[in-house]
Amino acid sequence: MQTRTSQGSSKPIMAYGEGSLAWLHQAHDEQLALCEELEEIADSLPSKINRQKCIYAAKALGPLFKGVHHYEETVLFPYLEHKSGGSDTLNETLERLKFEHCEDECFAEELTDALLRLGSGMAVNMEAVGYMLRGFFESVRRHIAFEREHLLKDMHFAVQSLKP
Ligand SMILES: [Fe+2]
Repeated sequence: MQTRTSQGSSKPIMAYGEGSLAWLHQAHDEQLALCEELEEIADSLPSKINRQKCIYAAKALGPLFKGVHHYEETVLFPYLEHKSGGSDTLNETLERLKFEHCEDECFAEELTDALLRLGSGMAVNMEAVGYMLRGFFESVRRHIAFEREHLLKDMHFAVQSLKP
């Protein structure tokens, strides 16, 4: 089954399995790399802005996050729900993660606008943009750390154990 690819990945992902687990790890790495870029932009405010970096980040933000969230919500989460046999605790956790996806996509849209303005040299409220940037990348780092620690660590071993 061919679905989406992460921003920089040319490999198609499959239904849940070893290949898609590798894809998700790579996609998370790409999100974290983008967070590094956003932190550098926040640190460069207000007078040392690299406009090209702002434009690049603005263009990468939406597609990368939507792609990862789509995969998690349509492949990974249903797989985990099925595997857990309908655990209430897991369901609550997955609902919270979906809510965070929704929030992050909203913030990503606002950030995209702000980064495009910064990149084109338009006037922006530097303090507000810095605050938005820091709030966003800190939230994304926490989210990915949680998913890796609580959802994917065991999955890695489960998939590894299926190897001949
Ligand atoms: Fe997620």
